[in-house]
Amino acid sequence: VSDTVRVLIVGTGGMARKHVTTYADIEGVEVVAGVDTNAANLKSFCDEFAIPHRFANVTEALDWGDFDAVSNVTPDGVHHATTIPLLEAKKHVLCEKPLASNFKDAQEMAEKAKSAGVVHSVNLSYREVPAMRHAAQLVADGAIGEVRHFEASYLQSWLTQPAWGDWKSEPQWLWRLSSKHGSTGVLGDVGIHILDFATFVTGSLPSQVSSQLHTFDKAPGNTIGDYALDANDSFVMHMQLENGALGTISATRFASGHHNDLRLRIYGDKGGIEVLFEKQNSRLNVCMGNNLETAQWEEIPCPDVATNYASFISAVRSGQQVDPDFGRGAVLQKFLDAELLRHCEQLQT
Ligand SMILES: NC(=O)c1ccc[n+]([C@@H]2O[C@H](COP(=O)([O-])OP(=O)(O)OC[C@H]3O[C@@H](n4cnc5c(N)ncnc54)[C@H](O)[C@@H]3O)[C@@H](O)[C@H]2O)c1
Repeated sequence: VSDTVRVLIVGTGGMARKHVTTYADIEGVEVVAGVDTNAANLKSFCDEFAIPHRFANVTEALDWGDFDAVSNVTPDGVHHATTIPLLEAKKHVLCEKPLASNFKDAQEMAEKAKSAGVVHSVNLSYREVPAMRHAAQLVADGAIGEVRHFEASYLQSWLTQPAWGDWKSEPQWLWRLSSKHGSTGVLGDVGIHILDFATFVTGSLPSQVSSQLHTFDKAPGNTIGDYALDANDSFVMHMQLENGALGTISATRFASGHHNDLRLRIYGDKGGIEVLFEKQNSRLNVCMGNNLETAQWEEIPCPDVATNYASFISAVRSGQQVDPDFGRGAVLQKFLDAELLRHCEQLQT
């Protein structure tokens, strides 16, 4: 890789704006090209961000080939098919979450990325939350003792209010409600974030999981145009972690009063810790030492954290692999798949 890292954006929809604007703040990164199967999206995005090269698919972009790294910002169901040829061409890839729409595909992506020897990262955005990273460090350092219990939730409300647009007519919301369009519902969409959030901070993966998922009736016949609205809207997961702790993880698109808030409380035998990400700001509260007796919580400051995009670019430059990698994306996918499968089996019986 030359001093300038040349980036290709695959999928020029809503989230791609975040990628391109964040890359603009990193020195020595140039977004050189865009790919989208939707010509109108491709044109308006590339015009807006002055991206010179435009392609209708990944194959055409690879035939051209003048790029080092890729942000894959296509819908979930398309990540696998678009990422595999990029890895085969030895391009570094930052892929959106969830890594794929099933474990088999996610694992294949992880294996292929490893054998290609490229940098691979899955964009679990909340790794950028300072309170989350600092909490993980405190737990790892033993500040709250042995972890015994936790509660985690991811709260969105785009099905109950219009702040992010009209879900009944806009494709970027409708595909998230439809399994035929590659969605695994709220479980796959943001469940992956909160599962990563909770298990990264507790430092332990689940050993046993059970859960309840539900799809609420949202339209006549639960269909809007080409979209069958069959993907789950809410879930509650209970689990035991490998470190023995018990906890719950839940997420919903019906959390009226919350646009996009994450909460995590972890209780250990020497203290409690609370990570809040609300209205785009994070806070870390702790209760430990003498404060346990009076149940007094204190807010503590947290150091800044590099963005996933900056970490990815640094890894491309240094050749050192970065966390979270595709392997982490695949491991998380395995738990989500198991719960989806169990849910489908329950529906059939
Ligand atoms: N990390 C986060 O916090 C976060 C936030 C939002 C979205 N996302 C993820 O980003 C991805 C994109 O979401 P979005 O909201 O931008 O969706 P979107 O529908 O707004 O954009 C997706 C774009 O990909 C294009 N596309 C579809 N198939 C393609 C293909 N085969 N090749 C090239 N382009 C193709 C579509 O035409 C569209 O322009 C999803 O995986 C989503 O889960 C992540």
